[in-house]
Amino acid sequence: MNIPSHFYKANYDFETDRARILNRYERLIDNFKAKYDKKEFFIARAPGRINLIGEHTDYNGLPVLPMAVNRDIASVFSPLEDGKVILNNTDSSFTERQFYIEASIPPYNEGDWGNYCKAAVQGVIDHYKGKGKTCRDFKGLQIMLDGDIPLAAGLSSSSALVVLSALIFLKSNSLEIPKLELAGLMARAEHYVGTQGGGMDQAVSLLGKADHALKIDFNPLQVTPVKLPPGYKMVAANSLVQAAKSEGALDQYNRRAIECRLAAAALRKKFSEMLKRELPIRLIGDLNTEKLAIPEDQIRDLAEGILHRQPYSLSEIAALLEITPIETAKRYCKKRDGSLFPEPAEGFKLKNRYRHVKAEGKRVEGSFKALKENNMYEFGNLMNQSHASCRDLYEISCPELDKLVEISRESGALGSRLTGAGFGGCTISLLESDKVEAFINRVTQLYYRDFLNLEQEDYSSYIFSCKAVNGADVLS
Ligand code: GLA
Repeated sequence: MNIPSHFYKANYDFETDRARILNRYERLIDNFKAKYDKKEFFIARAPGRINLIGEHTDYNGLPVLPMAVNRDIASVFSPLEDGKVILNNTDSSFTERQFYIEASIPPYNEGDWGNYCKAAVQGVIDHYKGKGKTCRDFKGLQIMLDGDIPLAAGLSSSSALVVLSALIFLKSNSLEIPKLELAGLMARAEHYVGTQGGGMDQAVSLLGKADHALKIDFNPLQVTPVKLPPGYKMVAANSLVQAAKSEGALDQYNRRAIECRLAAAALRKKFSEMLKRELPIRLIGDLNTEKLAIPEDQIRDLAEGILHRQPYSLSEIAALLEITPIETAKRYCKKRDGSLFPEPAEGFKLKNRYRHVKAEGKRVEGSFKALKENNMYEFGNLMNQSHASCRDLYEISCPELDKLVEISRESGALGSRLTGAGFGGCTISLLESDKVEAFINRVTQLYYRDFLNLEQEDYSSYIFSCKAVNGADVLS
């Protein structure tokens, strides 16, 4: 098989892992050949990720600290001359999707897996619009996919599929976009599926580096790898509460993004009045010394005084912004299809959301420093603080995640927190390497067996140690 050995050597630690991955890719190639009857093909893969710290900061313009992990979506594909895209998956519950490349590709129903591929293709076409290419110039492709990233688990299987689709679509058309640029492009492109996400997942899936975490800064997008200290491991554990961003949690996720935009707008208005000048503030992350020319602690104190703890109604925010409620909704609460996000019954919690985002941004800086200094106790503390803030201020945890975090800490983790969008999905825990096995056994007993009453032979798809791997690539 034509998988370059540097690929699995860099990304998989043990012979058994390497054998497993080669086996999987071989099966995928067989599936491709059987389905499409083609001898010429390419192979590509895009990894999932865990976010070590920095939750819901990316779309607020503040940094994150994820790593790409040794779970991926792989594809075997070949170009098609007629502008058609045919998608198949080795997992037969993902039934075949076919669509044509056109200027504006209509999405499937919300939540459909094919939309992630459409999002990428649309993003690439839009990028080349105005660069002398029309949609008729693009070749289509036939694709067979296989994934081992747990689904709806907060490990970013969806962005891996978007990034992978972009890479293979570009390859099929002999085009290339530098990865940093492609990361930004795909972050915007993924809004096609309806999530108003930030750019973390696409960036780390494309730019991940073996044995490193990435500190990612936004506006402009910038990636700084930081070596993970040897002797420690991150263990992911699936709470088994489904966090499908394309379904129920989508509204919850978007609601957080809306609340943050509203908080930034309210603070911009008040700070502009106080400082008697118009301020270049769009996101919570813009409320900084550089933009306001006042010290951080003064910004914090002023913001604390401006925002109140009780939830805001739309009309209260409108009055504060001195525009009508409908104008406020149109500016800040729009969905992708143009409809307006309904006002939540319990109001918009601007203060708590603002507090989480600002403090979480600082925790990312602190964690980056702790990693560089090998101070894993500090890193673990910051992870714990992050979880508390995600639970209490941002309200993206759930009883199962809290339980899993509690059990993990009692089972030897130096730090434990939910990872990704929240509302279910995985936790990650920081462990000394020699404690990993005992940790996994204990959490399996206390969470999966005792708490969820699950009895089965193998729990390795629920709880596993993660290795940081290189970003997405066409392998051959
Ligand atoms: C999802 C989004 C990311 C980020 C995280 C939360 O994974 O895709 O952009 O906002 O949630 O940190």
